[in-house]
Amino acid sequence: MMRMRRTLGGPAAAAAIMSLIVAPAFAQRPAGHYAAGRAVYRKWCAPCHDPGITHPGTHALMTKYKGVKSGVLLEWTDLPASTVKYMVRHGILLMPPFRKTEITDQELDALARFLSRNTPGGR
Ligand code: HEC
Repeated sequence: MMRMRRTLGGPAAAAAIMSLIVAPAFAQRPAGHYAAGRAVYRKWCAPCHDPGITHPGTHALMTKYKGVKSGVLLEWTDLPASTVKYMVRHGILLMPPFRKTEITDQELDALARFLSRNTPGGR
């Protein structure tokens, strides 16, 4: 048993294997699964986070992550739903917090599910 664990190579390999198992599950999501979340994104987040340096959120994240990863939130593969929810309710620097009268808890669930769709285990 010990030798087998060593062969697999620890947590990094385990994560890689998990993503192989999880990835096909994403592909099987029905069309429209993310529609509600995408609509919330378009209304409240796209003006700052859509691709392009003229969008202040994208510009800030390009500067912050210096090419280590994309400045475009939609392309991230390491954005857990919990992070989306925290940032949306609390804001960060230039980004305002959003009230429940603007984005309801239900809308935030859908938004977080949409933005974490490429993050293994992130939904
Ligand atoms: C007024 C512009 C603006 C709007 C609107 C906005 N953001 Fe942001 N957002 C920013 C900026 C600027 C940053 C980067 C802050 C920094 O430099 O740390 C940011 C950062 C973030 C981060 C943190 C990324 C990280 O690793 O630091 C997340 C997640 C995020 N935004 C999600 C959202 C979501 C979801 C919405 C829509 C509900 C949204 N933002 C709306 C400007 C905005």
